Amino acid sequence: MCGIFAYLNYRVPRTRKEIFETLVKGLQRLEYRGYDSAGVAVDGPNKTTDINGNSICLIKKTGKVKALDEELYKKDSLNLDQELNTHFGLAHTRWATHGEPSPVNSHPHRSDKDNEFVVIHNGIITNYKELREYLINKGYEFESETDTEVIPKLIKYIYDNRENDEVTFSTLVERVIKQLEGAFALVFKSRHFPGEAVSTRRGSPLLIGVRSEHELSTEQIPVQYNSAHINGVQEKNHHNSSSSMKSTGEGRAVEYYFASDASAIIEHTNKVLYLEDDDIAVVTKGELSIHRMNRQAGEDPVRAIQTLQMELQHIMKGNFDAFMQKEIFEQPESVVNTMRGRICFDSNTVILGGLKDHLKEIKRCRRLIMIGCGTSFHAAVATRQILEELTELPVMVELASDFLDRITPVFRDDVCFFISQSGETADTLMALRYCKDRGALTVGVTNTVGSSICRETVCGVHINAGPEIGVASTKAYTSQFVALIMFGLMMSEDRLSHQKRRLEIMAELKKLPDLIKEVLSLNDKIKTIANELYQQRSLLVMGRGFNYATCLEGALKIKEITYMHSEGILAGELKHGPLALVDKHMPVIMIIMKDGCYIKCQNALQQVTARSGRPIIICSKDDLELTKNAYQTIALPPTVDCLQGILSIIPLQLMSFHLAVLRGYDVDCPRNLAKSVTVE
Ligand code: F6R
Repeated sequence: MCGIFAYLNYRVPRTRKEIFETLVKGLQRLEYRGYDSAGVAVDGPNKTTDINGNSICLIKKTGKVKALDEELYKKDSLNLDQELNTHFGLAHTRWATHGEPSPVNSHPHRSDKDNEFVVIHNGIITNYKELREYLINKGYEFESETDTEVIPKLIKYIYDNRENDEVTFSTLVERVIKQLEGAFALVFKSRHFPGEAVSTRRGSPLLIGVRSEHELSTEQIPVQYNSAHINGVQEKNHHNSSSSMKSTGEGRAVEYYFASDASAIIEHTNKVLYLEDDDIAVVTKGELSIHRMNRQAGEDPVRAIQTLQMELQHIMKGNFDAFMQKEIFEQPESVVNTMRGRICFDSNTVILGGLKDHLKEIKRCRRLIMIGCGTSFHAAVATRQILEELTELPVMVELASDFLDRITPVFRDDVCFFISQSGETADTLMALRYCKDRGALTVGVTNTVGSSICRETVCGVHINAGPEIGVASTKAYTSQFVALIMFGLMMSEDRLSHQKRRLEIMAELKKLPDLIKEVLSLNDKIKTIANELYQQRSLLVMGRGFNYATCLEGALKIKEITYMHSEGILAGELKHGPLALVDKHMPVIMIIMKDGCYIKCQNALQQVTARSGRPIIICSKDDLELTKNAYQTIALPPTVDCLQGILSIIPLQLMSFHLAVLRGYDVDCPRNLAKSVTVE
């Protein structure tokens, strides 16, 4: 998905080289989101320069950020040693949606050949065709195939037709966004407003980091409203322009960092402000202010500057070759972080702070609906059975896109869970708004504090897995799994009939970090198996019951980073079709655990071996029969049935990693995929 980064230094002298380095570093931190081209906009000579000597220079390149970095230093016209006291630069990584990857389709996009206004965008403008046609009729010339290009053209059109010269940059942006439909995070720069930055969002994330030598004069930035319509009455708001909000004090040295996610900001500052939909954040003369057109009833009139808990080391690869590998090996700690402060192993109690006030309402509900996409959906599939058992409620699991396509009936007494690592997945977010409109209680299960899903749900659980940088989700899956199990335990605390089961699960949760470490110690064995498999075209993963989700998730990991065909097959469905795929050439991984499905899984194994298949079996290490007779086994430490899926997915995460490396692919940036899918 596109990545936004912008850097403003006000009264902080920086050479142009230092500014480039900051912009490029920001983009590198966003590389994990997936992209195909990149670009920057900085002050610098263009073919035309205005009478004040202002001009903006655009540099764009298809391919990796590294290629853009090299390009920057080829520009002879840019004096790299020149010190700029105040400067605002934009940078962007693009993931093509409208028009192929090419320099002209890359961002920043511009209003005209003189680069009067330039903009970077994350999201999608759904009414761009109408706007484009309108602007073409007005004589504006387009150069790219993108939806984004209507934005700089539109702001120039509004600027060209302004009533007077007093118009502010933020007013122009406000008028632009009134015309836009779809999702966007935008950062604008203009040669008419040198040193000023305007940014805004609707549906796509955007945050601003602030670094100043001085203490921030306030942790709360008041929101400035032009006029307020509350209960239909138009009134002047307290926070109008006369009560100016100074975050840093005019004239003070300050730096601002704008980014689509915190990983690009954290090495500069941990003081950040998350923009809300339709906020317009403006930096003028080093001062940050937030503007909105009209105040809506119930709206919070301040935006808090928050302190990010994330640390740089959390987003660095350390000794690992890839973020995905690092994140797989982090799982003994990440599951502990999910449980920390929530499970008391002495009293065998679970308290999820974000849900406790809603527990009664949840217990009275008609059904639980768990909604997500990809891996997050699989976490719902993995925990459905135990949630049905512990809550005694019907549990539906839904892929967000399909749930919306079906216009699924949702009622006021439904409780809907939205599971998302990023908290920004467009389909999940749309499903959330759909359920909210129908009066259901909405619960977020996310890994990203301050994300849209976090903010828009009534209550929720942060899974606290730490930043997940690798595009393939790994530690977020096991933490989502643990978080949902904890929810089941909390729901069943007062049910006498469930106590034995609860204690058994809690005892195993306590051991979980050690059990995961034991599974990770099988890495070399799994690498050896990967060596035998990496030239295959296909790989089937079969299982049932508590391990069906492992099959789906394992197959997803394999296909997304190794590009092999892989299918997760419910073993109960084998005889209804998939068995036709099995012969001596087809590699099959089977998950067979000593649980309620053990006998049925052994039947499936026989069906596979009867067709000369040579399955690789993931089983419990105390299952001597299987470990003795199988062609290859990956023997895992035993645990309670409903937690097996946390252990059984790890060999498949490792397998997909090794297969991808052996096949020569970039594990962290798989083709055609993005970390945060903010388009439907
Ligand atoms: C797979 C993967 C995707 C995501 C899906 C949902 O490894 O990462 O399938 O799980 O795009 O993303 P979130 O969880 O951010 O909503």
